[in-house]
Amino acid sequence: MRGRNLGVLISGRGSNMLALHDAIADRRLRARMAVVVSNKASAPGLALAAARGIPTAVVESRKGQSRDEHDARVGAVLEEAGIDLVCLAGYMRIVGASFVRRFQGRILNIHPSLLPSFPGLDAQKAALEHGVRVTGCTVHLVDEEVDHGPIVLQSAVEVGADDDVESLSSRILEREHDLYWRAVALVLDGRVRVEGRRARIVPTTA
Ligand code: GRF
Repeated sequence: MRGRNLGVLISGRGSNMLALHDAIADRRLRARMAVVVSNKASAPGLALAAARGIPTAVVESRKGQSRDEHDARVGAVLEEAGIDLVCLAGYMRIVGASFVRRFQGRILNIHPSLLPSFPGLDAQKAALEHGVRVTGCTVHLVDEEVDHGPIVLQSAVEVGADDDVESLSSRILEREHDLYWRAVALVLDGRVRVEGRRARIVPTTA
C-alpha cells in the first residue's frame, strides 16, 4: 500500500474506530487516521473522534439519492483526505459496486461472527439462537456482496451456557478491538495477497 492514511466509516458508537485510534496512539499500529466519516450526524462516535482531534465529516443520505450517488459523495470526502485504506467500523450502509471498484482491495470491514456464518444484522443474536458453541469476529476485505470478501483475520469466542446477547456481544466486541488493528497493519504492510477467495498472509520481508 502506498501510504498509511485511514478513512474510517461509522454510523454509531464508534468503539472499533476508537480502538484503531488507540492502536495508532500507542504505536502498535503505524498509521494516521485521516478522517472519520459518518452517515449519521448524531453518531456518538463522531463526537468522540472530534474530541480526539481526528478530522470528521458527515455524509447523510438524501431523499431520492441512489446508493451510488451517496457513495460517490463519501468517496470524494475520503479522496480529499488522501486516504489509502477504508475501514468500515459499524457502518450501517451497504457500499455499492462503484465504491468497491473505486477503492478496489482497499476496504476492510469488521463483522461480529465467524463468517460465512451469520452475515448481516444481529449476528450475535443469530449465533446464540442457532446454538453454536463457538462464534467470534472477522475482518475481511470488502467485495460487492455483503459480509463476503476474502477473510484477513478471525478470532473465535466460546459461547457460554449462561450467555445472553449482551454478554456475548461484549466479549466479541473486546475481541474485535484487538483484531481490527492487526488486520489493518497486515494490509498496510502489503502482507495480504488475495488469491481468489483466499487472502494469504505473507511473512514479513526482513
Ligand atoms: C461491531 O460489532 C462491528 O463488528 C459491527 O458493528 C459493531 C460496531 O460497533 N460491524 P462500534 O460502533 O465499533 O462500537
